[in-house]
Amino acid sequence: MSDPKIVKLVDESSNRSSELPLISGTLGPACIDIGTLYKDTGHFTYDPGYGSTASTKSAITYIDGDQGVLLYRGYPIEQLAEKSSFLEVAYLLLNGELPKPAEFATFEHDITHHTMMHEAQKNFFQGFHHDAHPMAMLAAAVASLSAFYHDDLDVENPADRKMAAIRLIAKMPTIAAACYRYSIGWPMRYPRNNLEYVTRFLHMMFEVPSEPLQMNPVAAKALDLLFILHADHEQNASTSTVRLVGSTGANPYASIAAGITALWGPAHGGANEAVLKQLKEIGTPDNVESAVLRAKDKNDSFRLMGFGHRVYKNFDPRAKIIREMCHKVLAELGVNDPLLEVAMKLEEAALKDDYFVERKLYPNVDFYSGIIYKALGIPTEMFTVMFAIARTAGWIAHWIEQHETPGSRIGRPRQIYTGADVRNYMPGDKR
Ligand code: SDX
Repeated sequence: MSDPKIVKLVDESSNRSSELPLISGTLGPACIDIGTLYKDTGHFTYDPGYGSTASTKSAITYIDGDQGVLLYRGYPIEQLAEKSSFLEVAYLLLNGELPKPAEFATFEHDITHHTMMHEAQKNFFQGFHHDAHPMAMLAAAVASLSAFYHDDLDVENPADRKMAAIRLIAKMPTIAAACYRYSIGWPMRYPRNNLEYVTRFLHMMFEVPSEPLQMNPVAAKALDLLFILHADHEQNASTSTVRLVGSTGANPYASIAAGITALWGPAHGGANEAVLKQLKEIGTPDNVESAVLRAKDKNDSFRLMGFGHRVYKNFDPRAKIIREMCHKVLAELGVNDPLLEVAMKLEEAALKDDYFVERKLYPNVDFYSGIIYKALGIPTEMFTVMFAIARTAGWIAHWIEQHETPGSRIGRPRQIYTGADVRNYMPGDKR
């Protein structure tokens, strides 16, 4: 390994300086290691939103925002979308390599035989109103897993970490379907071990006691592909949340529950639900221009949901794949959704508009995904739950990677204090 290049930083006001090593990874920009900066200069760095800050080293996912590149363990998302399955991608994210057939068979067997919830866990749902948002129920139900698996779980034990990963990936669809069934007043369904991962989930979502469910292979294939595309995405807000919570030594189920709550925000995974609501509000292609005008108006908090990205300053490669899927899946399902035309018109209008072009605002993963979820019969409030099922694979892979990284420390950012200077307490009659 060649000697690390050095960046010299001089504080001319105090003439103190710091020689900071440049660190490079396999791909992507080099990073200035500022670990000794405060000791050398007495200064912190300031980067709200972490737009220029790498929080960790990771070998799981690589994004090139300018080129619109997304790799899971080095494999381009386009190839995985075309050739892999969600469960195989989950194995890849966790283990770093694509599984050999026997390895995959063992992994799939382990997942299949950990899909059930503890019967007592079903009681948690009874405390919710039926109109509770499924993301609220999901976060609570996943957090409650930490009450069922804590005394025999040692986060420093690799086998315990692996079992937590198996349990989370296996149980998320069961819990997600239970949230939906509770919200519509239907009895929960047990996972069927004779079905593959996504078909099993759709069965738990839509099977009713009174008649057998006609499973549509197109739906399962489409959802499997959406799960692949949503499985991981580097240090996004929810993954960074899982890492920060995990850095304290917290239970993996509690760490993933924190990721679920971070994902729920409309600026993040909650955008897919917000996109559908926005497309419904716009209603017809004729209203697209006024929506674009509103999105540009700084006096209006209205934003085009599903547009823009902190990292992608080019097309989100996942959005490209999902947009092509929209046409194919809706045609195969025989669904004609006028909202697809509204979405296409909105994209066309925005991509021609200087405001969006100058800011490099393109459709992201959330812009088209809801149209497919809707065609699959998944209600709008469940869209972010779909995102959470898929992202659980990435979240737990990052949680494990952090535990496996020697020297990992508790995350503890600093701040610029802008509050009151030191002052003395005054009795009430003197204030
Ligand atoms: C996801 O990080 C990840 O990887 C996330 C994700 C993943 O897989 O984990 O990819 C999933 O969360 C995708 C993003 C989903 N969110 C949305 O679609 C919500 C709408 N998008 C925006 O809120 C916004 O684009 C963000 C939150 C995605 C990114 O915000 P940034 O990077 O902080 O950008 P910004 O707010 O600083 O915007 C820069 C400029 C601003 O204008 P100016 O101040 O320069 O004049 O672009 C404007 C913003 O006002 N802008 C938008 C806009 N997004 C940004 N204007 C109108 N509509 C938008 N959607």
